Amino acid sequence: MRALCWFGSGDVRVEDVPEPELINERDAIVRVTSTSICGSDLHLFNGYMPTMERGDILGHEFMGEVVEVGKKVDSLEVGDRVVVPFPIACGTCFFCKAELWSLCDNSNPNAAAAATLFGHSPAGIFGYSHLLGGYPGGQAEYVRVPFADVGPIKVPGGLSDDQVLFLTDALPTGYMAAENGGIQGGETVAVWGCGAVGQFAIKSAWMLGAERVIGIDRFPNRLRMAREAGGAETIDYEHEDVGEQLRWMTGGRGPDVCIEAVGMEAHGAGVLSWVDDVKQNLRVVTGRPHALREAIHNCRKGGVVSIAGVFGGFIDSLNMGAAFNKALTFKMGQTHVHRYLRPLLARIEAGEIDPAFVVTHRVSLEEGPGMYQTFRDKEDDCIKVVLKP
Ligand SMILES: NC(=O)c1ccc[n+]([C@@H]2O[C@H](COP(=O)([O-])OP(=O)(O)OC[C@H]3O[C@@H](n4cnc5c(N)ncnc54)[C@H](O)[C@@H]3O)[C@@H](O)[C@H]2O)c1
Ligand SMILES: [Zn+2]
Ligand SMILES: [Zn+2]
Repeated sequence: MRALCWFGSGDVRVEDVPEPELINERDAIVRVTSTSICGSDLHLFNGYMPTMERGDILGHEFMGEVVEVGKKVDSLEVGDRVVVPFPIACGTCFFCKAELWSLCDNSNPNAAAAATLFGHSPAGIFGYSHLLGGYPGGQAEYVRVPFADVGPIKVPGGLSDDQVLFLTDALPTGYMAAENGGIQGGETVAVWGCGAVGQFAIKSAWMLGAERVIGIDRFPNRLRMAREAGGAETIDYEHEDVGEQLRWMTGGRGPDVCIEAVGMEAHGAGVLSWVDDVKQNLRVVTGRPHALREAIHNCRKGGVVSIAGVFGGFIDSLNMGAAFNKALTFKMGQTHVHRYLRPLLARIEAGEIDPAFVVTHRVSLEEGPGMYQTFRDKEDDCIKVVLKP
């Protein structure tokens, strides 16, 4: 079969690879009909996530048709149309029972390595480095889905792939970011990053009752989408001072909830950002946390900083004094996708949200390598790429 494989920093290729087979009685094989490229994939593409190996199949956002099921998968049948959550979870461990699906104790075969770096291992993730399981990803014609009795959900035929594909990741990630903000009604919510995750965080903030939502980015098409599809006010951080604007918009108090939807490759200006760049390139640190710094600095006293952006390891110069003295609450993590699948599918079916609005590019799998570059460089007004294997 054809699959999009990682070969090094800036080097992904479509290769002929063996088709996956059932290994475990709780596996299923899915023929992929749609798969998307995520901001998280860019961290791999740019070489900032350790333990990738040449030839690894990428992709953790995918859906398709079940073509084979293991003996112990009662919930699925051949022919079912499913979306698959990106974290792999067993459904029975302490963490799965607590609905902390991305922290499953049983899905990372390389847990010891992850525990060395993080203290404890999170769940395995499709196509996301050997540290997180070494699972072949879904940017391919077929994919093996472990614990298929737990993760995948069936989706109704009346909804298009584009409408349900983002249940795999970006939509629940934006939603969990807003939920982690503790939005109860009436808050001002600022969202750093207007990629797909930021766009869905904006939508979710409204769904949870925010009174005011502000999107922050520098690309005009992304800011336009945040305004027109998301109904947010926007700040262009290249032409406006983010802190000054936020203080002005909130009568000096600052946003109640600051959502970071940028992650370890934030773009920035100034000396600190330059130092970040140098240190990240030397691999002294694993991230450039510019947006996170801004979120901490500008959050109102007693507010919440909710981090959806991915961080892989050590970062520098975070103002712990600001966080402590302003009594901020931090919430973060890989999304517990399983928890949100059914409620968000219900919202899509009810017409409360149509996630397809983020898609700017629909191409074949063969065009994937070029699209990784287009998406990384934010060229051609690219926001979300869907690949059709
Ligand atoms: N927590 C999770 O489970 C989870 C799931 C999916 C994605 N993510 C992460 O969320 C982040 C966003 O993903 P995406 O797919 O939307 O990516 P994306 O690359 O499309 O969007 C990132 C956006 O951040 C903007 N940005 C960069 N520096 C900024 C700054 N200083 N201030 C404000 N905006 C800035 C960029 O211009 C871009 O529009 C990534 O780090 C990704 O890894 C996390
Ligand atoms: Zn993703
Ligand atoms: Zn588990």
